[in-house]
Amino acid sequence: MAADPSLIPQAVEELLRFDGSSQIIVRIVTQDIEMRGKQLKKGQRVGLCIVSAGRDEEKFPNAESFDIRRGTREHMAFGHGTHACLGAALARLEIRVVFEEILRLMPQYQIDGAGLKLAHNPNVRGYSRLPMQF
Ligand code: HEM
Repeated sequence: MAADPSLIPQAVEELLRFDGSSQIIVRIVTQDIEMRGKQLKKGQRVGLCIVSAGRDEEKFPNAESFDIRRGTREHMAFGHGTHACLGAALARLEIRVVFEEILRLMPQYQIDGAGLKLAHNPNVRGYSRLPMQF
């Protein structure tokens, strides 16, 4: 990305697919249905792990590999359908600008992996501590 900032928009999509910040969305089943051998009954609540959907090998070949040249936006990081994220366009813009500015100001930055701390939140994934050197 530092060498070729034109890859940043694709890298943003790959970040969202690979490790999106929103983990689970919840829906209520509207009709009895069988999915992949499981019976779902009308009225049941289901938690959908949308980050896991981003690693679905049937949808994304070599899904466990992080590849900023993958070039797909067909992940579920912003949900899907009627209640899909209203702020998706703004979020995409913000993430892109953050990377453009970080890479412009400190292209040699290094993250201290040993010092990372995950934030504890049942739904939103992210870091409460992210030490870096530049
Ligand atoms: C990386 C950043 C973001 C992620 C990963 C994200 C993710 C999501 C997801 C997965 C949903 C769907 C919830 C569901 O279907 O139950 C959602 C809904 C929503 N998001 Fe975001 N979001 C982000 C940023 C934002 C921003 C910046 C805004 C506003 C400025 C925003 C506003 C909303 C709103 C209003 C909804 C509810 C839409 C509805 O229920 O019809 N989001 N978001």
